[in-house]
Amino acid sequence: MAAAVESPPPLSVLMVASEAQPYAKTGGLADVVGALAPTLARLGHQVTVVLPHYHEIGPQSGDTTTRTVRLGPRSFDARLTVVAAEPGLRWVLVGCDGLYDRDGLYGDHAGDFADNATRFGLLARVALDWAERSTGLPDVIHAHDWQAGLVPVWLHTASGSLAEVPSLFTIHNLAYQGLFPTESLDTLGLPRELFSIDGLEFWGQISFLKGGLVFADGITTVSRTYAREILGMEQGEGLDGLLRHREAVLSGIPNGIDVEIWDPARDRFLPRGYSADDLSGKRAAKAELLARYGLPTDPPALARPLIGMVSRMVDQKGLDLIRDAKPRLDALDATFTIVGSGADHYEEMWRARAAERPDRVGVVVGFDESLAHLVEAGADLFLMPSRYEPCGLNQMYSMRYGTVPVVRATGGLADTVTPYDAASGSGTGFVFDAYSADAMVDAIEAALDVFRQPERWRTIQRAGMRQDFSWDVSAAAYVQRYRDVIERRQAAGTAGGAPQGV
Ligand code: ADP
Ligand code: GLC
Repeated sequence: MAAAVESPPPLSVLMVASEAQPYAKTGGLADVVGALAPTLARLGHQVTVVLPHYHEIGPQSGDTTTRTVRLGPRSFDARLTVVAAEPGLRWVLVGCDGLYDRDGLYGDHAGDFADNATRFGLLARVALDWAERSTGLPDVIHAHDWQAGLVPVWLHTASGSLAEVPSLFTIHNLAYQGLFPTESLDTLGLPRELFSIDGLEFWGQISFLKGGLVFADGITTVSRTYAREILGMEQGEGLDGLLRHREAVLSGIPNGIDVEIWDPARDRFLPRGYSADDLSGKRAAKAELLARYGLPTDPPALARPLIGMVSRMVDQKGLDLIRDAKPRLDALDATFTIVGSGADHYEEMWRARAAERPDRVGVVVGFDESLAHLVEAGADLFLMPSRYEPCGLNQMYSMRYGTVPVVRATGGLADTVTPYDAASGSGTGFVFDAYSADAMVDAIEAALDVFRQPERWRTIQRAGMRQDFSWDVSAAAYVQRYRDVIERRQAAGTAGGAPQGV
């Protein structure tokens, strides 16, 4: 008889993040935290996510307590609302008068909020206060992006049992670093010694992100290719040296997607559900999408290829290629539907295009969840010409919706989209390498050429729709990383076991 294999005990995980579905979202971080946390809970782990109680979240029912938390010279009354979402998962929403109760998560049109060091420093402090004072210390703390970068720093400077808790830090985007003037050290109550090359110092400022990278026990990022790319100068954002130094504890775990929220068969934002076997609901989505944008819906318009984008309008997303490609894009026999917001000049660029070609270009500037789903479903092609892309979710959503992605071969886009091969007819999308307007339009033209061959096109659509991007595999990889950092800590012994600086 085979001996019973003992499965390792479930873990108690405390996550700290600045956005998460279903509460607050500006980009993919929210999708990831909002899907990873419940997946871990369903795998049997105890997960608590600490998140700011932003104004847009509104009142939530749950147990509420107030805690006075010190941050440098000041004390803050933090109001914690604990929402028990499902077995094994609870949310701790952190409210604080004057800090999170305003419009916007990180800033407004005038730029980043001036008090972001305090807002996210407090988030980290409250999370650690929770870890210490609630029911037992967690096995591991998982901090996401710069907004949670001080969590590993304070674990490093902590005394007592809190100092023994290991941390994992996930980079969703290395370009956003949380840089603040040196004086913030005092505001945050961080020791001055941390202002060194081995600590938080980054070109004369302090960097929350660097704090996370230096002091976490393990580091992950959101695709394997991006994990490699950030070790080089081109994509290292000035932190590649540090990342190379920490390479032994750095790994890439690809993002999954929430296959319940993003399911063409049951999507509440679509006129009708559809599947790979019956794509008629996709045609209905296309008609509705064109109508929502006020574009023509006559038979020639319905037959014309429709190119969609759902994107933050920032340099990362390759919008300068779209600017430079204008003459060639204008010459395509295609329609565009775009939803996004971001830099004023890119918003303006799209508005101008829509004004110039009202029958061919539809643009909605803003954040609109329902439209994002409709674009994913109703478009024929989905365009992501990113300059860099840590993982990217929209290309996976589009494949699941039978919408063929045209992407640049970078980061997670390179990992998730298999280039179409004309000889065999295999592949899930169209991929270009060079960061140039011509390379992008060449790829779009190649896609349009196959679009005009319906049998071949269907094969690509179906290949994309068959991909499994669900979270299970990646959530298991996170659990493994949690166990790694726990073991590493145990092996190093509790005293002095915290990682050293560079
Ligand atoms: P990033 O996090 O860099 O913005 P991702 O592809 O990982 O890129 O994730 C973006 C997420 O944000 C997706 O869920 C996408 O649908 C959503 N999104 C981006 N812009 C908008 C918008 N204007 N309206 C609605 N959803 C948007
Ligand atoms: C970041 C990245 C994006 C990634 C998302 C979630 O915003 O820009 O590529 O998919 O985080 O990890």
